[in-house]
Amino acid sequence: MAITGTDITRAAELLCSGQVVAIPTETVYGLAGNGLDEGALLTIFKVKNRPRFDPLILHIGNLDQLDSLVTEVPEQAWKLAEAYWPGPLTLLLDKKPSVPDIATSGLSRVALRVPAHPLTQSLLADLPFPLAAPSANPFGYISPTTARHVNDQLGEAIPYILDGGECEVGIESTIIGFDEGNPVVHRLGGMSLEVIETVTGPLSYQLNQGSNPAAPGMLDTHYAPGKPLFTGDIEQLLQTHEGKRLGVLSWRRDYQSTGIEHAIVLSPQGSLEQAACRLFAALRNLDKAPVDVIIAERLPDIGLGRAINDRLLRASCRGSNMT
Ligand code: TXA
Ligand code: MG
Repeated sequence: MAITGTDITRAAELLCSGQVVAIPTETVYGLAGNGLDEGALLTIFKVKNRPRFDPLILHIGNLDQLDSLVTEVPEQAWKLAEAYWPGPLTLLLDKKPSVPDIATSGLSRVALRVPAHPLTQSLLADLPFPLAAPSANPFGYISPTTARHVNDQLGEAIPYILDGGECEVGIESTIIGFDEGNPVVHRLGGMSLEVIETVTGPLSYQLNQGSNPAAPGMLDTHYAPGKPLFTGDIEQLLQTHEGKRLGVLSWRRDYQSTGIEHAIVLSPQGSLEQAACRLFAALRNLDKAPVDVIIAERLPDIGLGRAINDRLLRASCRGSNMT
């Protein structure tokens, strides 16, 4: 078991000595190491069992640190960084040689963001380097939104978990790259596209393609529980899977009152923010429950609903023709 606590000095000492530490962010917990130290980066890949072709996000304390890491910041990227950092938004920018190739899996761009969690902000302010941090889960599994989730899966492999409570946003950051200066969405996430578009104007998309060399981490099957999961219209799914022991994840309606024992409602009030915040913990709980199959309601395709649907689809059993 890892030691869990709120000791920033201890976390900083471990990170300065090349070790990895789990850190809270507003999106999900990260498995952090010195982003400029190849040894620490290799440890991150090893602990997560993550393929080396899937690059990492570097977390920085503020905008001033960009200069030492990237060659150029397109105008739209500046606008976004100024408007939404700290926040659940990652930008892909051309890297300087100071960023090790291991961090970017050999790509010319580095993923960067300023996380909004106060503990991690204090930690970053104490460190002379950025923190590389993928989500602190074994590769392909659901991301952790509490220190306990991290401990359950990676506790044996890491010395310390900085406990910042439950993550407020609950799904990973939105990733935006730039094509000749124009913003391109690479991953849906905790900042809605509607919010981003108020700064950038209409966005273009490059999503969901596992074979896409620009976003090698966007694999088809990801964020997945161990149990088979199906997503779609909940009433239809209930009919299709009748007779099985079902775990039900719904948006607003309470299915426990209809006699289903393992049913979780994401947001009775219909808040997409609350649904995002509760999504991953709910999936973990249903995964642990004595059920054979999880069925999850598809949410409205607006705001954070799009990112939630994206995660549910990646977590689901699909035909091989789905990308
Ligand atoms: O909210 C988040 O983004 C969390 C917290 C810890 O910050 N981190 C996170 O990291 O979700 P991770 O490693 O689980 O997902 C990062 C994604 C990967 O799918 C990766 O492929 C993509 O970012 N990525 C990183 N660098 C990239 C690059 N240079 N080009 C394209 N995609 C990149
Ligand atoms: Mg991840």
